[in-house]
Amino acid sequence: MLEVCQISKTYPGPVRALDSVDLRIDSGIFGLLGPNGAGKSTFMRILATLQLPDSGNVALDGHDLFANLQEARRSIGYLPQEMGAYPRASARELLNYLAALKGITSFRQRKALVEEQLSIVNLRDVADRRLETYSGGMRQRFGIASAFLGNPKLVIVDEPTAGLDPIERRRFQRLLVQAAKNCVMILSSHIVEDVVDICDQIGIMADGKIVARGSPQNLVQSLENCVWTRTVPEDKLGQYETGYRLLSVRPDAGSFSVRLFATEADHSHLSGLGFQRADPDLEDVYAHLVTSSQAIPIS
Ligand SMILES: Nc1ncnc2c1ncn2[C@@H]1O[C@H](COP(=O)(O)OP(=O)(O)O)[C@@H](O)[C@H]1O
Ligand SMILES: [Mg+2]
Repeated sequence: MLEVCQISKTYPGPVRALDSVDLRIDSGIFGLLGPNGAGKSTFMRILATLQLPDSGNVALDGHDLFANLQEARRSIGYLPQEMGAYPRASARELLNYLAALKGITSFRQRKALVEEQLSIVNLRDVADRRLETYSGGMRQRFGIASAFLGNPKLVIVDEPTAGLDPIERRRFQRLLVQAAKNCVMILSSHIVEDVVDICDQIGIMADGKIVARGSPQNLVQSLENCVWTRTVPEDKLGQYETGYRLLSVRPDAGSFSVRLFATEADHSHLSGLGFQRADPDLEDVYAHLVTSSQAIPIS
């Protein structure tokens, strides 16, 4: 179980990247959704103990994460947003090295673990090739193998699907779901599609705060009766850009399908304009919270 209590972080500038973030995750896959600049990577680096917060605490299964960094890092797997330069080392060599850093001192034990991880992510046939020769999808699979080495209790995966094609993305999601069975996993993204199918719980982050949290179903239900839609030709789009709370404009067979957020008071006005009530989806929730920064009740 992960308990985050009142974490704040300000960079020189000053830029308030995290503003008193509280979060408790019991199990399963937690999706952290937020636009670029929301504070996701800062949050993830703090959980990975690679950066310290200015204030606040994090506990993993009741143990203070920052009290014993060495110990904490053995329980944590981290797949960063940017891997930086790709080493000349092979996947097999690097995994062996990472396993040693995790404190697995027996050579035989390490070898068994590395071979197991390589076959889970299906990289055994290319495990002696240098990582710099890998494709984007192969690098992500290597990232999973390294993040899950040594049975971590907490796995942190920051914006993993950038650069993957749709088939690789699905394959990657399947691997994550299988690998996350025995740990808490946090997966961040700015793309709703990346988290909606695989996360049990979702938190939406905007301006360094978690503005909503719940299951995808709960979050979607919170906008019941609030989303209205109609098809609008291109030359009429402008009239909905001011004075309305626009959620999205989606191209639709030569015209555009406009979705608006509306409260009870606006319903008859919108009906008069030819709008119809729509079933909300997670994209609507995300757009609503991130554009208005208006929190909805946390459930
Ligand atoms: N090392 C840094 N120095 C100064 N500002 C930073 C640094 N890292 C991130 N920031 C700023 O902090 C905010 C949050 O960034 P980040 O945590 O990377 O968010 P996200 O991953 O959601 O895009 C942004 O405004 C970003 O520009
Ligand atoms: Mg980021």
